[in-house]
Amino acid sequence: MKKQILVAGGTGYIGSHTAVELQNNGFEVIIADNLSNSKIEVLDGIESITGIRPIFEKVDLSVIEETEAFFKKYPNLEAIIHFAANKAVGESVAKPLMYYRNNLNSLMNMLEAMKEHNIPNLVFSSSCTVYGQPDKLPVTESTPRKEAESPYGNTKSISEDIIRDTVKAHPNLNGIALRYFNPIGAHPSAKIGELPLGVPNNLIPFITQTVAGIRQELSVFGDDYNTPDGSCIRDYINVVDLAKAHVVAIERLLMNKQNSNYEYFNVGTGEGVSVLEIIEGFERSTGEKVPHKIVARRPGDVEQIYADTSFANKSLGWKSESTLDDTLLSAWKWQENLKKEEVK
Ligand code: WQD
Repeated sequence: MKKQILVAGGTGYIGSHTAVELQNNGFEVIIADNLSNSKIEVLDGIESITGIRPIFEKVDLSVIEETEAFFKKYPNLEAIIHFAANKAVGESVAKPLMYYRNNLNSLMNMLEAMKEHNIPNLVFSSSCTVYGQPDKLPVTESTPRKEAESPYGNTKSISEDIIRDTVKAHPNLNGIALRYFNPIGAHPSAKIGELPLGVPNNLIPFITQTVAGIRQELSVFGDDYNTPDGSCIRDYINVVDLAKAHVVAIERLLMNKQNSNYEYFNVGTGEGVSVLEIIEGFERSTGEKVPHKIVARRPGDVEQIYADTSFANKSLGWKSESTLDDTLLSAWKWQENLKKEEVK
């Protein structure tokens, strides 16, 4: 009997790539998603890659009645990977209550269900945004968390505290938070990838949509930062490498290899890359030009952040493997495939 894993928010960008890697590692994947920021067709993409269609339930996990009905239907879950959250930084500034209600209620409903149904393990989708603008780089897991730059980021920080306090009160429960840096790229098959609804906030989908002619020109938000080329620096992590980190975390929990019942890890590449270097890398790896202009800084952007990944490499036994060029090319291949699908 395959071990059953709930991927909450599994038709989303990171969730769908994680579903593929879980299936590749012999797990049975059950996806619960409210489809508020993803499409049901993602299941076709997952199935076309692995040959296995995940079980899917349309559920709003922020609604306790829907959540309880779901867990009653699936009594044999070994673990939950919790992605289900709103994640648009700008939108969270405009609608903080929606973000706090949805992101925190969904997480608390998961934790209640774990207690209620004896599901011992949780992997949580956290973010480097909990560090704000770090004083020292690279960022390690002992870098102090700071006031997040947005309500979205704050929900991640508060969520980590909720998990920490819950597993402290219930030692039979175990949690691992993965602090993502900047997830980018798509599965090499180009069957799944990032599907931003509306105008993309994030850099890579804006680039691919600009090169595809959907957007006119990329605006680079500032080149007057205190960095080598003046543009902001981030740690861009390949989404498949990131998905694999979730499988490693799940296996760590199932084999009881944790040092404590609450752990958190920086999941990045350890390399800082600037916006202008991303544009150069994209043009180099795809042969396509990225029309762009320099505009004013975007409020809330941190100047630079990138990870020290030695703890995840050593203690979690995970390391990112993809090159930046291959990752940027995968994002472009996915965009090209999207265009072909639309034409069908
Ligand atoms: C990256 C860099 C921009 C768009 C946020 C969240 C993080 C995660 C990813 C959800 C910055 C610059 C961007 C554009 C630009 N959230 N940029 N022109 O802000 O680092 O991280 O999204 O998954 O938790 O904090 O990512 O891709 O928006 O920006 O110049 O049109 O690209 O200024 O320097 P960010 P991003």
